[in-house]
Amino acid sequence: MKTSDTNLKVQETLIRLGDQPLANGFKTNRGDLTPKFKLSYGVDEETGLLTQIRTPSIENMFNDSYPYVSSGSKVMVEHFKKAAEYCSATLGKEKKNILEIGSNDGVFVKNFSTDEAVCVEPCGNFAKITSDLGYKTYNKFWNIETATELLEEHGKFNYIYSANCMCHIPDIVQAFAAVSICLKKGGVFVFEDPSVLSMINNNSFDQLYDEHVHMFSPSAVANLLDKVGLTIYMVKHFKDIHGGSNRYYVIHKDTMFALDRSVNKALEDEEQVFRHGIKKTYREFNTNISKNAELLKTLITSLSRTRGQIVIGYGATSKLTTILNYCEITSPQDIKYVLDTTPEKIGKLYPGTNIHIKKYQEDSLKDVGYALLGAWNFKDHILEKESKAPTSFITHVPYVTIL
Ligand code: TYD
Repeated sequence: MKTSDTNLKVQETLIRLGDQPLANGFKTNRGDLTPKFKLSYGVDEETGLLTQIRTPSIENMFNDSYPYVSSGSKVMVEHFKKAAEYCSATLGKEKKNILEIGSNDGVFVKNFSTDEAVCVEPCGNFAKITSDLGYKTYNKFWNIETATELLEEHGKFNYIYSANCMCHIPDIVQAFAAVSICLKKGGVFVFEDPSVLSMINNNSFDQLYDEHVHMFSPSAVANLLDKVGLTIYMVKHFKDIHGGSNRYYVIHKDTMFALDRSVNKALEDEEQVFRHGIKKTYREFNTNISKNAELLKTLITSLSRTRGQIVIGYGATSKLTTILNYCEITSPQDIKYVLDTTPEKIGKLYPGTNIHIKKYQEDSLKDVGYALLGAWNFKDHILEKESKAPTSFITHVPYVTIL
């Protein structure tokens, strides 16, 4: 079957996460309707890419009140600063002509002057921020049409950067083709997204939600890029970014380049993960999801209902939407509230639930017995920050555990 909007061919549904709301569709009122869709994934027969069977409308996901802020944590600000330093080092004395696709609140481009970087950002609230900062910002989705407009106005770019954005774009071949036409010969395209291999190794099924239309593996990325005349020359793995991310360094195929040994290493690591067959691996992953979810639900409900403990969530992540809805933990009787620092999320209800998001304060944990780590990808940082709190933390990654 051809999956809607992605133009990819999937023959079998391998991973099923049931009816899910939009992960960042935080609600203001209890009565607000939460539209849901069937969240399921299969493998594209041609490239081996893990992709959604049906994608919800991207216009609904990325709108003018999108709440995810990239510079919401010091860890991420530092991560993007280093990515910008690498960009400057790569370009050396060459005049910078940078394009960022999915620039969010400008956490990456802020490291460059306004005449060095151009932004593309579909969410109006964020496009306004970079525009107000003086960066030429196109409030558009990334596709051939946008690329053509940019090409006419700016010519080709010598550096194109995109973080946590490519995996959101349903027609990914078109998105890469759009990069290919905007990238100067000899220029570099650098993009990073969560790694499907980390997801498998961590049992982190909550990486699967509406916005993660695709989950990339090195070989799938290589196959997709090959279709549009691009190739990977280096891969960098970040164990602690978004629960395990890969950054791909890409150039035109006909450019002279030295292939970094990280590319073969990444491909070998992938072969190891899929050594029993790619579809079999995902079928097993799907079986593990239901086992882990059952364990997590039993733990939380026995703590809250049987033992009368105060159980909350820590970090109102998109990932937690998948967990709460898949496990059917939707009542404040089980998770009293979720703490978060993001102003755009505070006071709202978790998508698909009656659980509120409360503003994090320094003494927020003083009466809390247990906290489920929504932001488990910041586990070390959070455990250090909360080392004096009387609270025990719960995670499901890689197994359901009280830490
Ligand atoms: P992230 O893990 O990037 O989430 P997503 O699954 O949506 O990609 O987001 C982290 C969220 O957790 C963000 O809303 C901020 C919040 N957070 C806190 O409230 N306190 C913290 O100490 C940390 C690390 C994160």
